[in-house]
Formats: sequence, structure tokens, C-alpha cells
Amino acid sequence: MTGIDWERLRAAAREVTGRAYAPYSDYQVGAAALVDDGRIVVGCNVENASYGVGLCAECGLVSQLNATGGGRLVAFTCCNKLGERIMPCGRCRQLLFEFGGNGLLMDTPVGVLPMSEVLPQAFGPADLDHAR
Ligand code: THU
Repeated sequence: MTGIDWERLRAAAREVTGRAYAPYSDYQVGAAALVDDGRIVVGCNVENASYGVGLCAECGLVSQLNATGGGRLVAFTCCNKLGERIMPCGRCRQLLFEFGGNGLLMDTPVGVLPMSEVLPQAFGPADLDHAR
């Protein structure tokens, strides 16, 4: 898929920061991704009183991906409420890898990079298949 509308994705991510539930960190995150069938899925962080088990924005995004029909992630961006691009945490890189693989295009503060550079030598489904 070519011609990714990054500005549209970034706008979707920024918009959804407004629906984050982050009363504990006061750090609102929005994420948006293009799916291989053309739809856009989004997510925002959702915290709870047990601080350590809050949900990152990427958790909501992959849940929406699956709940609305599945598919593969093609391009991903996330930001804080100021619209500044941020990098997904380590756990969420793994989550995104599951649904986009090495070719998923990641919008980073230093430019668009493939997931293979954002999560090098990722452990993934192929490793399980290989040794089972
Ligand atoms: N957060 C995300 O939603 N995604 C990330 O990749 C980084 C961190 C959230 C988790 C927590 O609700 C807040 O940002 C502060 O860490």
C-alpha cells in the first residue's frame, strides 16, 4: 500500500487523546493506525486505580482492530495531548508487531521507520511455529 496519508492518521491520534482516561498520570496518549483494507483504527490510554495495570493507547487500538474485523496494520502513529509524536513503550511495540510485523511503518520523532528498526529481532508468531 502506497500513499499513506500521515497527516490524517496524526489528526486521528491527536483527536483521540481527548478521550483518554488518565487521571493518575495526567498524560493522555492517542494512537491511530491504517489497516490493510483502508480503515483507520484508534485507541487512547485508559488507566485505573491499580496504577500498574493501566491500558496503553495501543491496547485499545489493537482491540478495535480485532473487534471491527481484523486485518493487518500498515502504518501507525501515536502522540501526546500536545500532538507531539511519541514512541510506543516496549510492551506495545510487541503488541503492534503481532498485528503488523516487520513491515509496519512507524511514525517516530526521527521519521518513518519500519518496525524491524523499532523492535529489532522481534520474537513473534514465526518463532512459535518453528519449534512446535
Ligand atoms: N502510554 C501509552 O498509552 N502508550 C505508550 O506507548 C506509552 C505510555 C500511557 C500509559 C500511561 O497511561 C501514560 O501513558 C503514562 O505512562
